[in-house]
Formats: sequence, C-alpha cells, structure tokens
Amino acid sequence: MTNVLVQIFSKLFATIGLPTVMIFAAVLLLSLWILSSSNPRVNWPPGPLCFPVVGCLPQLMISGKRRQPTDLLPWYDTYGDIMHIQLGEQHMIMLGTYELIEEAFVKNAATVSDRPTWVYFIRRLVGKDGAGVAFKNGHAWKELRRFTVSSLRDFGLGRKSLQEKIQDEARYLVQNIEDENGKAFSPSARIGKAVNNIISIVVFGARYDYDDTPKMLSVLEESMRMNKGGPLSFTNLARFFFPKKKFALVDKFYSLVRQEVKRHRQSFDPTDIRDFIDLYIKVTQDRLDPEIYTEWNVFRIIVDLYLAGTDTTANTLRWSLVHMVNHPDVQKRVQQEIDRVIGQGRVAKMEDKARMPFTEATILEVLRLSTVVPMGGPHATSEATTLAGYTIPKGTIILGDLYRVLHDKNNFEDPYNFKPERWLEDDGKVIKSDKMIPFSIGPRVCLGKGLAEMESFIFLTTLLQNFTFKVPEGENPPNGMEGLNAITFSPHNYNVCAVRR
Ligand code: HEM
Repeated sequence: MTNVLVQIFSKLFATIGLPTVMIFAAVLLLSLWILSSSNPRVNWPPGPLCFPVVGCLPQLMISGKRRQPTDLLPWYDTYGDIMHIQLGEQHMIMLGTYELIEEAFVKNAATVSDRPTWVYFIRRLVGKDGAGVAFKNGHAWKELRRFTVSSLRDFGLGRKSLQEKIQDEARYLVQNIEDENGKAFSPSARIGKAVNNIISIVVFGARYDYDDTPKMLSVLEESMRMNKGGPLSFTNLARFFFPKKKFALVDKFYSLVRQEVKRHRQSFDPTDIRDFIDLYIKVTQDRLDPEIYTEWNVFRIIVDLYLAGTDTTANTLRWSLVHMVNHPDVQKRVQQEIDRVIGQGRVAKMEDKARMPFTEATILEVLRLSTVVPMGGPHATSEATTLAGYTIPKGTIILGDLYRVLHDKNNFEDPYNFKPERWLEDDGKVIKSDKMIPFSIGPRVCLGKGLAEMESFIFLTTLLQNFTFKVPEGENPPNGMEGLNAITFSPHNYNVCAVRR
C-alpha cells in the first residue's frame, strides 16, 4: 500500500512539478482553514491570528518564551478578558477574570467540568477514557472524587492523627535545618522531602529520612524539571515532539507504586486499613462497582494524590521563605504572634490559627502573590456552552487564568507587592474575598485544600518559631516575582541562613 502511494506521488511530482504541488497543498490547507473557521454555529471570542495547521503556536512560542505566568497578560489588553487561542488543531479558551471563571466553572459546571482526556499527553498517561480523580470525567469522576474526599477524611484530615504527623514532620525539618548551624543553605530539597513525607504517610503509610531521597520523589522531581513541550503538548503534533523520556519516568513511577502495592499485600488486614494502598487492595477485592472502582482508577487516585499533593504545597512553603527574607518586618510580626499565642514550649496546632490573624494573612498573601498553579487544571466542554455570549463548541479546552485574577488590580490593590495587611480589617479580623481562588472554584476545586492549608500553617509557624531566616551575607535576595513555571510555579533556587531564635 505504501509503495503504491509512493509511486503515485513520484509520478505526480514528475508530471506537474514541485511548485504546482506546493501551490495545490497551500490552497487545500487555506480552504480547510476557511471552512473550519467559518462554521456558522461557532463564534469564537477574539484572539491572535490562527494559521493553518499550527494555529497560533508561533505567537505563543514568541510571547511565552520567558515562561513566566505574566507572559500572556498583554494579550488580554489586545483581545479582551476572554480569548480564543488555537493550538494546532485544538481550540482553547482562556478566561482572565473571576467573573468569567465563575460563569464557566460554577454556573456552567454541568458542561465545563471535564478534562481534555483526548489530548496526546493526557491520553498517554491515563488512557483515552481518563482515570483516577484528576483525569476522569462524568458520573465516574463524581463517584471517585466523593470516594477520595471521604477516604482522605478517614485517614486523618478531619482527625487528630494527621495533624500530629505534620507536627512531627515539622520538628524533623527544624532538626535538619539546625544542623546547618546558621550557615547558608538551599532549603528547597528538604522542604520537598518534608511535604512529600506527609502525602507518603497518607498514601503509603511511610515517611523517609531526609538523607535518602525516596525513588518516587526523585522520579517525580526529574519529570517536573523536564521540558514538557509547553503549549505544543496540547496538540497532536506532541506525538512527535513530546520528550519520550518523560513517559519512561511515568512508567518507572507506576512500577514503583506497584512495588508498594505488592509489599502491602503481604501484611494486608481488611479490618485495619492503614493507608490509601490498603484501601486500593480492599476496594479492588470488594468490587464495589466494577465499572467505576477498577484497579486502574483506584491506582490512578494514588498517583493523583501523590503528584498533586507534593509540589504544590512544597512550592507554597518555598515561596513563603522567599517572602520572609525579603520582608523581615513581616517575618518579625509573624514571630511576635507566634510568641504571644504559641510560645516556645509546644508546636503549632490548627486551633491556634483563629487567634493568629497576621500569620493567616501572610499565608494568604503568599498563596495570592506566588500563585503556585497559575493556570489551574485544564477543563474542557462536554457540550456546546455559551460563555460571555460566545458559543463554545464541545471539545474545547477551557483554562481559568488564576494568576491574572489574583493579580487583577480590580480585585487586589497594588497587586504585585507583598502586603499581608491587605487581608486584615481595622479590627484585626481576616478579610474573606471570593476573588481569592488559588485552589480554583466549582466542582473541580482542589480536593487537597484542607490538607494544604494545614501543612502550610503548621510548617511555616514551626519554622518561624525556631528560626529567623536571612539572606546570606554577600548574596542577592531571592527573586520574589519570577520563577520556574511548569504546571506549578516554583521560585528559582536560592540560599538562606536560618538563625536559631
Ligand atoms: C497550596 C497547595 C495547593 C494548591 C494551590 C492547589 C491547587 C489546585 C488547583 C488550582 C487545582 C485545579 C482545579 C481545577 O481544575 O479547576 C487542583 C486540583 C487538584 N488538587 Fe490541588 N492544590 C494544592 C494542594 C493539593 C494537595 C495537598 C492535594 C492532595 C491531597 C491536592 C490534590 C488535588 C487533586 C486530586 C486535584 C484534582 C481534582 C479534580 O480533578 O477533581 N492538591 N489543585
């Protein structure tokens, strides 16, 4: 068959010549483009000029080459708060205000809560029907999400036990930092290990010493550091450009989780469910609803929790220290509050938070200014949906630009400055703002929000209870605005000195 085609094309080239063939191909592509963009049922919002085949990938590559969450902000000034962007054959809408995100993710949740599981890299990770909680759609996703939230609660989010584990981990982190004796060090890796230990306790029932990096964490970190192909990864062209090594790392990660499952099976007791792996074994044995509770779905929930629960919270803490050394006055005020409410004799607990408004305001300001998931998770339309008067067809990717909302001067005055006071009323109470959406909104809202808040509060207060963080002498202060923007946003590597209080 291939030979026949080659022969036909060779003859065609020989008869009519290469220039004619190229003109013919250009006319064909142009007609396809005009046909596709003149679909009368679709009125796309404004956006950059789309070219045949590649869409507006060239402009994206140019404007987005610094890979900062601020890169595309000027586009909103040109095209408006809702933008249409074509990535190869894939249409995508970017929503740049709270009101638009609310219209899409809350008011139209029935048709804007899917994940685009057909996109090459997602399909390669979870299969074309999606899986787990982060990449499943429809009724099965709702059921698996309900199951995940209630299991997380059972494993201690609502109970005292997990809080105690976080307190213990915060103490280990303090001991580890103490070993530096006030000398300059990079806090990034050990913060990653401390946070990773919490999700490891929930999922695998184990924590790891800071001296050994668990294999799973190093695989996760290596894959996070790898270039993901940027906007190209949303197109079918990704099958040619997506780094194959990334999938090899994912397969390695899956096999490490399978080894854990095997180890758990040896000591499994259905009357004593210790962690998510035990739950996985139980659920797949019980065959609750064999259509939904498949081995693959429950396995992927484990992976989802591990992936979504590590880098996000670790980056929040990494950014917290960046802002503390850049704003010693804020650090001091948090420490005064710690001294007043907690003192030096015990470790922080969640009940303290209500009496520590300045500390709460500081954490809110870190989450706002250093939006750790700048574009949220990719949503997709499961049916044609009207947004801001535009008819968006089924199968369109919808991104909520959380970074823009959290840096919109209509929502937050002087948005690019770190000002915890903005969160405090005159009487010292913490202001609640519905525009504060670092965890997104609607039915897909982050399901680890409670755990992330508990970790951020206990880790940060324990660190500042024990140390004052400073910029090492002779070094520049770390950059508080720019960082590495992959799916999550992390600060560039930096050093601090931790001076014992
Ligand atoms: C500061 C820390 C965190 C931030 C800022 C954050 C933010 C987010 C955001 C923006 C989304 C996408 C929501 C959407 O698609 O509209 C998300 C989803 C998710 N997060 Fe988090 N997250 C954090 C910590 C965690 C933790 C600790 C866990 C694990 C327990 C977790 C588990 C998940 C899961 C499983 C999803 C997918 C939910 C679904 O698709 O139904 N996250 N998170």
